[in-house]
Amino acid sequence: MDRVRIETFLEAFTEHLAGATTIGLLAVADRSGLSRHLMEHPSGTSAEIAEAADLEERYVREILSGLAAAGIVEYDAGSKVFTMPAEHSLFLADETSPYFMGGWLDMIPAVMSQVEGVATATAHGGGVGFEEYGRTMIRGIDRGNAPSQTVFLTKRWLPAVPELAERLEKGARIADVGCGSGTAAILMAKAYPNCQVVGYDVSADSVTVARSRSEDIENVEFHNYSVEEIPTDHPFDLITTFDVIHDLPDPAEGLECIREALKPDGMFLMMEPEASSHLENNLTAAGALLYGISALHCMTQSLAKDGAGLGAAWGRELAEEYAAEAGFGSFQRLDDISNRFSAFYLLEP
Ligand SMILES: C[S@@+](CC[C@H](N)C(=O)[O-])C[C@H]1O[C@@H](n2cnc3c(N)ncnc32)[C@H](O)[C@@H]1O
Repeated sequence: MDRVRIETFLEAFTEHLAGATTIGLLAVADRSGLSRHLMEHPSGTSAEIAEAADLEERYVREILSGLAAAGIVEYDAGSKVFTMPAEHSLFLADETSPYFMGGWLDMIPAVMSQVEGVATATAHGGGVGFEEYGRTMIRGIDRGNAPSQTVFLTKRWLPAVPELAERLEKGARIADVGCGSGTAAILMAKAYPNCQVVGYDVSADSVTVARSRSEDIENVEFHNYSVEEIPTDHPFDLITTFDVIHDLPDPAEGLECIREALKPDGMFLMMEPEASSHLENNLTAAGALLYGISALHCMTQSLAKDGAGLGAAWGRELAEEYAAEAGFGSFQRLDDISNRFSAFYLLEP
């Protein structure tokens, strides 16, 4: 045994364990309102914070102590004052910020609750179905994607596609496939009142949320359809998917159905996790997160339906191959709007 390796691994493993408990503490801070309180009132002793936020001091002190040790909040030993830096609140509490990552504070607990099922599937095959993760996962997915969609979708992402924004201003048919809680479809309907927007999702619970949020918006509707059920008799000018294709039980067929539902000059904007199709290029913290969420959710929910289990890290090389096989004549990565977490692709028939 190599003593240095043992010590190094002990250090690294302790960091992983602390990361897990820190996410647990942050999930509690998120749900209890502590994180939002600290965004507005960033400093105080645990007693001052607990009183002002109407929370239990003993919990607040233990949570803030853990967050101080993890470097999430600062601690002044002389005054016993904890301070949440404004920059950290962008990630933890400010749902209007594109940096907001609080969706993970729903998603990680939701996927951890299904570890037994994923272990059983690892031993015997099959998977854990999307619905097993419950409403917390649906909320987490939306809170994960909605902040950047709200800030960028109609202001940067769609305008980055040549001539698309002008076409949408005039009026067009748009579909958002795998629409989840409906944020992207609703944003497009509001930004382009001359367009008719349809959201499709195979999750009935997601469609219920989307419908309840859009009752007063006339040019958007939601259907509890799987991608194969999208009608082709009234084709679309634009189809969008946000983190959907890798989740499909049959991604190849799904892409074909999307192409068939487009007008001959229609456009398909596909957002997928930023990754290479080759593991050796993904050996980073972002890669660990991606394969982790994939095994614990994306891949297993596809395998639960006897699907391909493509996985969240299917990557750009494979995406291009799938697009060609589905009959798309053109495949283009939109470098201007792709970022370290998400890649955008424009596919045209
Ligand atoms: C990771 S979520 C993304 C949701 C949404 N696009 C967003 O940005 O928040 C993937 C979505 O794809 C949906 N989905 C999975 N398989 C589908 C299928 N065969 N047809 C339609 N939607 C599907 C899931 O129900 C889920 O809402």
